[in-house]
Amino acid sequence: QRYRDNAAGEKMNPFAEQEAWEDHQIGKATLKFGSKNKKQMSDDYQFVFEDQIAFINASVMDGDKFDELQTELHEQSEAQSALEKLQADRKTLPIYRYRDELLKAVHDHQVLVIVGETGSGKTTQIPQYLHEAGYTKRGKVGCTQPRRVAAMSVAARVSQEMGVKLGHEVGYSIRFEDCTSEKTVLKYMTDGMLLREFLGEPDLAGYSVVMVDEAHERTLSTDILFGLVKDIARFRPDLKLLISSATLDAEKFSDYFDSAPIFKIPGRRYPVEIHYTKAPEADYLDAAIVTALQIHVTQSPGDILVFLTGQEEIETAEEIMKHRIRGLGTKIAELIICPIYANLPTELQAKIFEPTPEGARKVVLATNIAETSLTIDGIKYVIDPGFCKMKSYNPRTGMESLLVTPISKASANQRAGRSGRTGPGKCFRLYTAYNYYNDLDDNTVPEIQRTNLANVVLMLKSLGIHDLLHFDFMDPPPSEALLKSLELLFALSALNKLGELTKVGRRMAEFPLDPMLSKMIVASEKYKCSDEIISIASMLSIGNSIFYRPKDKQVHADNARMNFHAGNVGDHIALLKVRSMKRARDIRDQLEGLLERVEIELVSNPNDFEAVKKSITSGFFPHSARLQKNGSYRTVKHPQTVHIHPSSGLAQVLPRWVVYHELVLTTKEYMRQVTELKPEWLVEIAPHYYQLKDVEDSTSKKMPRGEGRAS
Ligand code: CDP
Ligand code: MG
Repeated sequence: QRYRDNAAGEKMNPFAEQEAWEDHQIGKATLKFGSKNKKQMSDDYQFVFEDQIAFINASVMDGDKFDELQTELHEQSEAQSALEKLQADRKTLPIYRYRDELLKAVHDHQVLVIVGETGSGKTTQIPQYLHEAGYTKRGKVGCTQPRRVAAMSVAARVSQEMGVKLGHEVGYSIRFEDCTSEKTVLKYMTDGMLLREFLGEPDLAGYSVVMVDEAHERTLSTDILFGLVKDIARFRPDLKLLISSATLDAEKFSDYFDSAPIFKIPGRRYPVEIHYTKAPEADYLDAAIVTALQIHVTQSPGDILVFLTGQEEIETAEEIMKHRIRGLGTKIAELIICPIYANLPTELQAKIFEPTPEGARKVVLATNIAETSLTIDGIKYVIDPGFCKMKSYNPRTGMESLLVTPISKASANQRAGRSGRTGPGKCFRLYTAYNYYNDLDDNTVPEIQRTNLANVVLMLKSLGIHDLLHFDFMDPPPSEALLKSLELLFALSALNKLGELTKVGRRMAEFPLDPMLSKMIVASEKYKCSDEIISIASMLSIGNSIFYRPKDKQVHADNARMNFHAGNVGDHIALLKVRSMKRARDIRDQLEGLLERVEIELVSNPNDFEAVKKSITSGFFPHSARLQKNGSYRTVKHPQTVHIHPSSGLAQVLPRWVVYHELVLTTKEYMRQVTELKPEWLVEIAPHYYQLKDVEDSTSKKMPRGEGRAS
């Protein structure tokens, strides 16, 4: 917002200001212990600081020679088989020179912190080195990623490099999708999945090495993993633990893991010119598009990477860009637009890794996923509007929202670095140098400090960890947030008054879902509609991509969508009707398996929507809202004004009482996935949470009989 406030409104030339970044530096790998040897370290390295971010370059060869070598390798490859080429490519990665040293360090130490530039080969190479060195004879090598897409794409790449079929020796596991087999020895997975594996195997006996990758991302699951793996490392001396990160700020990890040594992989990093705008941009999306097109028509070859905040923004940008390119005429070289975000279908994701054809230029429109998780070769220009979507949580109200927020300096520097991987690059920051130096935080606040913890608390409780206040957190969550989660779990009957797991809680913990969704499923037993409820849960779990709404066919898409809403059944039941997508079916199959595990019979009750709605309410009763005279809603428990999302089937209906799945803040605070409910259900289902006075309808007396009641 502050970027917009003092916007001049006119378009500024983003090329106006320049600031050169560091030159090539020479570094060598060293092993450093804890944070003690800082001084010695700086003798080993030449640091060039830009806001505490140093980049080390192993300029084994200068840029030209390196390019020559790459060309040479490329020519050779025409004669080589694809596999041989991949093997040769592996040897050009910065990490390759340190292979033996790294293996020795792993051999000598139980816990190792590994730091290296994005693209140096940490994720794809280290597990292979460990495999080659025989670690997989004793157990699997597991490597965690904060993002689903990264786990999948890296596993695919590694299986190619090893010449094996994905899912055989090399596999991945993400929520609701297990692409591994008996044969799998290198397992890439989301951090959340490894966390769940603790439930079945609390000592991770099947693993010889666990690599917690992208540790700097500090996702909630990664932070919890830290505590758990640190604990099991004590009684499993044979287990090797690698904590890898793209930032140089690794002392914190080292300190946390009892002064574990830090292994630095000198990266190959070329200078990056930073350009700032002279004045804040009024519309960063438009500025990003204009900048990309300017680069395309004025700058030398090299692909462009634009950081945007989410799918919707990326789709909008893609559409506007296509339109404007058409307006540029035929003299302009081809510009290939490649979107990448978490929900993009897998087939389309592969496009960003395909080499750009001669004479064309690629522009990658990415979310934060491209900041460190995915390495895209050939990027020479980065456009950084300075925002990302970030979860924030209000422990007082228990409300979570995704907000477009300014990034941190650390993020800005990671983003800029993406342009200097294979040659000198340029980064266009769509904010002022003043903004950068004065407004951006140094680091992103770890997720654990800005999120709802109910899920994690339920998991830790079922792992037998009761004293959460004394759990070994690297950065503890606010105690208010912990208490709020305990309260919610108590309200959902997952915990008893003593904070102990109940039978309901134990059943809920089996489902890899948010506690409210799990509770909805567990409650469906009582209402004899488990069949319908797991269908709804699977649809809710795949996100917002269910009703695909292409920009150029919005009217059609909206009409098609409204067909599912006939009878104003509400959004949840509309989801039940559309359930036809493969992914939703896969998820559903798994939920069906889990039902069996917690001994809930699969019972269908297709005509009793009231039973279905009561199950939903059993999980989501804390998310109830009541209609106001002006057409807005007021949440019942922690009064707040909210609205029904325009995409909801009930947006025009405005029932007096609703229960919603989630809140999203865009122009207003919107409830998404809304179902009508009867207020008396709240007292019936959650008497410990709602009292009669909460749900008494003061205005209902003035209404004609029957109106304002759920039908
Ligand atoms: O983990 P780190 O950032 O250190 O590097 P990496 O992900 O192991 O990437 C090493 C190399 O593998 C890069 O040059 C990538 O371009 C390549 N790679 C790829 O081509 N396709 C992938 N899906 C992942 C990596
Ligand atoms: Mg990586």
